[in-house]
Amino acid sequence: MSWIENQSDEDKKMQQNVKELGKVPKHLAIIMDGNGRWAQNKSMPRVAGHKFGIESVREIVRASSNIGIQYLTLYAFSIENWNRPQIEVKGLMSLLEIYLKKEIDELNLNNVKITTIGKTSSLPHKVQTLLYKAIDKTKDNEGMNLVLALSYSGRWDIMRTVQMIALDVRRGKISPEDINEDYFTSQLQTAGMPDPDLMIRTSGENRISNFYLWELAYSEIYITEKLWPEFKKADLYEALSDFANRERRFGKTSAQLFNEEQTNEIQKTSYLQRVLDAIKK
Ligand code: IPE
Ligand code: IPE
Ligand code: MG
Repeated sequence: MSWIENQSDEDKKMQQNVKELGKVPKHLAIIMDGNGRWAQNKSMPRVAGHKFGIESVREIVRASSNIGIQYLTLYAFSIENWNRPQIEVKGLMSLLEIYLKKEIDELNLNNVKITTIGKTSSLPHKVQTLLYKAIDKTKDNEGMNLVLALSYSGRWDIMRTVQMIALDVRRGKISPEDINEDYFTSQLQTAGMPDPDLMIRTSGENRISNFYLWELAYSEIYITEKLWPEFKKADLYEALSDFANRERRFGKTSAQLFNEEQTNEIQKTSYLQRVLDAIKK
């Protein structure tokens, strides 16, 4: 099913409103939290919360793709999550298996490119096989990049990177003076991806929980009380509208940003004028 063709008019209108604000994030990262509490509130086992959480994944992936987000990272399972009761871990792994089996064709049809970050070698073999099949099948797609953070943790990736760089130094491939931010970034699992512009966390927790540590340096953070199974496209549009109205200063002052914008406008206008003059000649 084509997602773009199967949108309701109301959906299109909501998206248009967000787009008109002119600032759709290139990279959106989400900490999908609160599945367990959602289930417990309904006197259901925690795994039921994860199952309903998949419905939100479906809806948010689709809406993100339709609105033109280029990278969507979903933090689905952290390295620390391996320490949960075995029954929950097993339930989560089989849900992941079901998701990958069931969704791959539709994701592929909608041009989504699947990638993964994390210590995926720790995942059950069945999940690894399905994951790598999905990655291979969608590798040439040019639509939204769906980055599944599975058995991922920010500190783990930073430690891995430090070890790789230390090895490169020992082998004489690079010298310590050559290590800079760009080089470090190029060795992370997120190499080649833009940093997240916006990070959403559901369930009202005010923490990063070992998600992207390096990459979130200047990301906008949006925390909602909604639990992940309750988080739907209207909530996403609300978060995107909130983001579009923020001023990202990257350490500068508001006045500097204003001046830069004016200069850009002047440059754009004079460039346009030159093009028009050239056409007239
Ligand atoms: C997020 O929901 C999913 C994973 C961490 C795998 P939780 O399972 O953490 O739900 P809460 O936070 O306990 O409610
Ligand atoms: C963060 O949620 C990890 C994922 C959503 C995958 P947790 O539920 O594991 O985080 P804490 O333990 O509340 O910090
Ligand atoms: Mg949690």
